[in-house]
Amino acid sequence: MAKKNGFDVGKDYKVRDIELAPAGRKRIDWAESRMPVLMSLREKYKKTKPMRGMRVSGCIHVTKETAVLVETLRAAGAQVSWSGCNPLSTQDDVAAALAATGTSIYTWHGMDTREFYWCIEQTLAFRPSLTLDDGADLIMTLHTKHPQLAKGVIGGTEETTTGVHRLRAMAGDGKLLYAIIAVNDAETKWDFDNVYGTGQSSLDGILRASSVLVAGKIFVVAGYGHCGRGVAMRAKGMGANVVVTEVKATAALKATLEGFQVMKMDQAARVGDIFITATGMKDVIVKRHFERMKDGALVCNTGHYDCEINLEDLEKLKKGKRTIRSNNEEYTLKDGRRVYILAQGRLVNLAAAEGHPSEVMDMSFANQFLSLLRLSKEGKKLDPRVYDIPEKQDQAIAKLKLSTMGLGLDKLTKEQVAYETDYLAGT
Ligand SMILES: NC(=O)c1ccc[n+]([C@@H]2O[C@H](COP(=O)([O-])OP(=O)(O)OC[C@H]3O[C@@H](n4cnc5c(N)ncnc54)[C@H](O)[C@@H]3O)[C@@H](O)[C@H]2O)c1
Repeated sequence: MAKKNGFDVGKDYKVRDIELAPAGRKRIDWAESRMPVLMSLREKYKKTKPMRGMRVSGCIHVTKETAVLVETLRAAGAQVSWSGCNPLSTQDDVAAALAATGTSIYTWHGMDTREFYWCIEQTLAFRPSLTLDDGADLIMTLHTKHPQLAKGVIGGTEETTTGVHRLRAMAGDGKLLYAIIAVNDAETKWDFDNVYGTGQSSLDGILRASSVLVAGKIFVVAGYGHCGRGVAMRAKGMGANVVVTEVKATAALKATLEGFQVMKMDQAARVGDIFITATGMKDVIVKRHFERMKDGALVCNTGHYDCEINLEDLEKLKKGKRTIRSNNEEYTLKDGRRVYILAQGRLVNLAAAEGHPSEVMDMSFANQFLSLLRLSKEGKKLDPRVYDIPEKQDQAIAKLKLSTMGLGLDKLTKEQVAYETDYLAGT
């Protein structure tokens, strides 16, 4: 093992510090103990190794939960090559633990954009037969820079809303070269991970970066989709007065009927104490909003990319800037007001905290595993478009999750099953 420019570089890895492996292993052990669904799939497939011969290139946040997925894929016989999907989300000890046990992995916390794509290039040099994305940067690099590799790819999966949007747009343009399963859109992913996972972990990130009292604050949530709703619920639970901004009428209406105040960002900017964007859209908070904010306003993002808060605008307005604490930059504006940006406008839950709790990632990553398994068997027969998770898979994962929680389900009787389709039955 060689040390190069402060990194540990091995035959098949580049990580921050391989000596962190024992600490990372403990975190992985902890995650395993809270991911019974994924662990049961590992147990089921570790003997038959149905993914033998598959080469999976993955680009997703490198967290302790991701490590459980990676090691489940390897236990099922796949070879993997991995990178992180965000410059600030890699947990260096987890990456070291994976490298130390033979996973090909290229990622570290604090990568710059050039390094980020360099890491992706390493995982593509592995010539994947399957790809796994979170945000679609890996697949986009493959399509734009190495389209010849697509011939060898059977299919891929996409973990997040923004990635699915990109890939559906690409398929709509006829540019997608192989089949993708939209893991994000599974009920056992979108309605749990995005809602409860993002809800809890975003609050966790805000608190770790600021330690502010949430109770009594005006907490502005931009976007009342899956993530925004989760964040709004948790902030309300902590005693905040939640304000929602939206562009979609039905989403705004839902927020209103769920007891939140809805207003335009132009208005919210004047009253908010804490702002969080969860839209997947760029320029949600821009110059005119910063110009209206109260002294001490705290601003962060939990959407996939760091384009939701326009930091270039804030840079132009600033008189001074300093890091006041970890993941918290204080911008002093020309009139003396201070605005605090958490985690550089990147996903606050992953950059300033640890991402979603293992219990919720259990279902998301069971979906990832089963989707890659399905692609390894059927991918060659699928047309190059974006596919949904089958309802059967969703129900099977939910059922397994319930059983690991010791919760039972009622079963429809024969008569009830017949009643479901008996259109003649009325009053
Ligand atoms: N932080 C995380 O760990 C995490 C987890 C899952 C998803 N995400 C990301 O979070 C983002 C949102 O995902 P989602 O599943 O909630 O999507 P979603 O489609 O369910 O919700 C997004 C909402 O934002 C609204 N919106 C769009 N532009 C807006 C604007 N300018 N102002 C106000 N509202 C606007 C939309 O109308 C929609 O209701 C995506 O980028 C997704 O990839 C992050």
